[in-house]
Amino acid sequence: GKFVNVILTINGEDHALDIDPRTSLLDACRDHLGLVGSKKGCDHGQCGACTMLVNGRRINACLTLAVMHDNDSITTVEGLGTAENLHPMQAAFVEHDGYQCGYCTPGQIVSAVGMLGEIADNWPSHVTSDIEGRTDLSGDEIRERMSGNLCRCSAYPNIVDAIETAAA
Ligand code: FES
Repeated sequence: GKFVNVILTINGEDHALDIDPRTSLLDACRDHLGLVGSKKGCDHGQCGACTMLVNGRRINACLTLAVMHDNDSITTVEGLGTAENLHPMQAAFVEHDGYQCGYCTPGQIVSAVGMLGEIADNWPSHVTSDIEGRTDLSGDEIRERMSGNLCRCSAYPNIVDAIETAAA
């Protein structure tokens, strides 16, 4: 088939790609750019392991085509922090053991960062390491707002604790 050109701006860096237009944003990152932090759990929009931020909004990267995101600002887990300088949400997940096998963790963390940006109404908050907290965020609201991110190990209590800590 015919390939098309797209420029993906990911974590502040432009990547020119010549790809099959049917390529999902997730596959473009994982298979073409070596950005494998975002995971493929289901490839059907059901698990959230592939969550990225597009212009600050959460998206299931398996459900969207890379060619639709020319000129968008995309953030993956690789763009949040480094091993030496964790994003506050990453640090909170470490502190609270917000994972067991870890497969869903990148999506959980990106989703949680996007969620806090949404409710603080200051998105795209992901471009800074600061999180504008909202002290009235309840565990129930976190569960509801994070319901698109599944954890097969069922580490949910620790995930919610981590997000509560990061949001405080
Ligand atoms: Fe995209 Fe599961 S891999 S939602």
